[in-house]
Amino acid sequence: MLTLVRNIGELITNEGSDPYRKSGCAFTFSEGLINWVGPEADAPDNCGHIIDAAGCAVLPGFVDSHSHLIFAGDRSAEFAARMNGEPYAAGGIHSTVAATRAATDSELRSNCASLVDEFHASGITTCEIKSGYGLDVENEIRSLRIAREFTPETTFLGAHVIPREFACDPKAYVDLVCGEMLTAALPYSRWIDVFCDRGAFNPDQARRILRAGAEAGLLVKLHANQIESIGGIDVACELGAISVDHLTHISDSELKNLAGAGIVATLLPGVEFSTRSDYPDARRFYEAGVEVALATDCNPGSSFTTSMQLVIALAVREMHMSVDQAIRAATLGGAHALARTDIAVIAPGMKADFMVLSAPSIDFLAYRPGVPQIAHTYLAGKALTT
Ligand code: NIG
Ligand code: FE
Repeated sequence: MLTLVRNIGELITNEGSDPYRKSGCAFTFSEGLINWVGPEADAPDNCGHIIDAAGCAVLPGFVDSHSHLIFAGDRSAEFAARMNGEPYAAGGIHSTVAATRAATDSELRSNCASLVDEFHASGITTCEIKSGYGLDVENEIRSLRIAREFTPETTFLGAHVIPREFACDPKAYVDLVCGEMLTAALPYSRWIDVFCDRGAFNPDQARRILRAGAEAGLLVKLHANQIESIGGIDVACELGAISVDHLTHISDSELKNLAGAGIVATLLPGVEFSTRSDYPDARRFYEAGVEVALATDCNPGSSFTTSMQLVIALAVREMHMSVDQAIRAATLGGAHALARTDIAVIAPGMKADFMVLSAPSIDFLAYRPGVPQIAHTYLAGKALTT
């Protein structure tokens, strides 16, 4: 059946940017795909169903290109300690690894399902999910297998940190990740990622692991420059990464290299918020010609939020992004960070993933922090929330 979305206060299509916010426009979709966009006066008159946006804003669904939803337990005590002045260190990951290994499949699955429900309520229609709290063959593979039940955008992050049992022999762990673990992960993974930072993997280890993944056919992502710049960006450029994520600390020359390599910079302001760190200034990325994506990085340690609306508000307030930049980064930027060309644009042939706000403009997503502004989310044309 053909559905018409009409009476839209402002429409964000992500096609062109002049103007970014379109008024007087409507669109139609059928069988999960958009088939027409144009002035409402020209809308086809054979639509069997009408969605009346009641003067509210309509935009593509958010694309969360970075999350870690397969875990058990929480680290609220670690968060509270950080708020009292403790610094964030990668070591906290080990406690989530212990809880995840001890959990049953159904506990991991239902925790992930409830977080994905939160994503949907937050307007997220596509998400990536990483492994990385198993850190042995059995637990990394079951993490990926469960993640695959929720999204095709699954990422093998066996190189999150070196597990305690390999502390005295990191090389043996890197061998395992590049060998048996990678082979077992392949059927359930589209991406490979490494946490390349102080306390995690160094650039040489990251290079070896990413190269093995890329040679096996996986697309490359990298966690880098969160705690400190240790050379991860060079590795990402060398290996043709699609995105580099975090980038809390980044020099001008690193920005220039990212721009030259056409790598998407995925900024994660939920992390700076939850680790009480300084926020990167997004203006530097735009000035350098780097494409920016925004993602939640939902995980129990450094950013336990599923709210893209919070991420947008922080990006606007703390990272100096305009609302338009932030919305584009949370939709089209995320799609590019996932190498996806079928989502995040409202145009004929694209997937009908979109949301209707309860507000007349996208400004409200940052202007009303902490107050949900999403009335309805549609995934392939089907309403997820009512
Ligand atoms: O993306 N930085 C590395 N990994 C996660 C955090 C993991 C954790 O602290 O549990 C991140 O922030
Ligand atoms: Fe992460």
